[in-house]
Amino acid sequence: MEYHVPVLLQDSISGLNIKPDGTYLDLTFGGGGHSKEILKHLGKGKLIAFDQDADAEKNILDDNRFSLIDGNFRFFLNYLKFHKINAVDGILADLGVSSHHFDQPERGFSFRFDAPLDMRMNQDAEMSAAGILNSYNEDELRNIFRKYGEIPNAGKLAAKIAQRRNEKQFNSTFDFVEAIKTCLPPRNDYKYLAKVFQAIRIEVNNEIDCLSEMLLQTLLVLKPGGRLVIITYHSLEDRLVKNFMKYGMLDGQPEKDIYGRMEIPFKLITRKAIEPNENELIINSRARSARLRIAEKI
Ligand SMILES: C[S@@+](CC[C@H](N)C(=O)[O-])C[C@H]1O[C@@H](n2cnc3c(N)ncnc32)[C@H](O)[C@@H]1O
Repeated sequence: MEYHVPVLLQDSISGLNIKPDGTYLDLTFGGGGHSKEILKHLGKGKLIAFDQDADAEKNILDDNRFSLIDGNFRFFLNYLKFHKINAVDGILADLGVSSHHFDQPERGFSFRFDAPLDMRMNQDAEMSAAGILNSYNEDELRNIFRKYGEIPNAGKLAAKIAQRRNEKQFNSTFDFVEAIKTCLPPRNDYKYLAKVFQAIRIEVNNEIDCLSEMLLQTLLVLKPGGRLVIITYHSLEDRLVKNFMKYGMLDGQPEKDIYGRMEIPFKLITRKAIEPNENELIINSRARSARLRIAEKI
C-alpha cells in the first residue's frame, strides 16, 4: 500500500520558488513526495527534512543533498543551530497525519479498524488517545471536541464519555465508537466520527501548539525573499497560518505607527488559499480539505 499521495504537489513546489543552490526545509517528510520534487529542482543546494514518526525513515531518500531528522518540527530551529545552519531559502509544511497513519490499523487513527486507542505520531510520546479519554475531565473533553472537531453536541459527547469510563476504561477504537453511538447523528455518522477522531488526534499530538511554535521560528530563519509554504487540513490550522502570513503574528495585528503603517514581515503570494482541483480529488479524495498558503519573507 502506498505510504502517502502528496497533496497540491505542483502548486506547493512552485510556491517555494526553488533556487538551485538554496537550502530548503520539508518539515513534514512523511512518504517523501514533496521532498522528492524539491530535490528535482535543486542543483547544489540542500534539503533538510523532519518527521516525528520514526516510520517515515523507511522512505529516506538516497541523495547526498538530503538529510532526514527524526524529530518534532516545534524544535526545528534547535536542530538547525546544531547543524550550523543559520538561514534558509524556503520552508514547506504539509500538516497533519499521512495516509500511512490511517491505513495502519494498529496506530489507532482510524475508526475503520478495531485497534488500541493510540493516535500518537511519535510513538515514544507519553499521552495516547486512551490516556486522554480516560483521564481528562468532562470540561476538557468538551473543549477539545468543540475547538478541534467543531462538534455541535460536544457537551453531550463529553458527558457520555465521562459516564461510561466510570464503568470501564476505554481501550479500543470499536469499543469507543460503540460507547458514543447515541451521540451520533442518524445520517452522516461517518463525518461525525471523523471529526471526533480528528479532535482527539489533534490533542494527542498537541498539533496547535506545535504549529504555533513552528510558525514563530520561521521568521527567525527565512532569508529575505525566502518562501513559507503551508498546507493545512482544518479551519483552526488555516486561520492561524492565514493570520501569521498576513501580519507575522499568530493572533491579532501589529500596532500601527504614527503614519498608520504596520510593520509586516511577509508579502502574501496567495491572497486566497489554493485548494485541490477536481482532477486531484478524483485521484486522491484525502486531499479534499487541503488549503495551501504561500508567503514571502520581506
Ligand atoms: C500530511 S503528511 C506529509 C506527507 C508528505 N508531504 C508526503 O508527500 O509524503 C504529515 C507528516 O508530518 C508528520 N508530522 C506531523 N506533525 C509533525 C510535527 N509536529 N513534527 C514533525 N513531523 C510531524 C507526520 O508524522 C506525517 O508523516
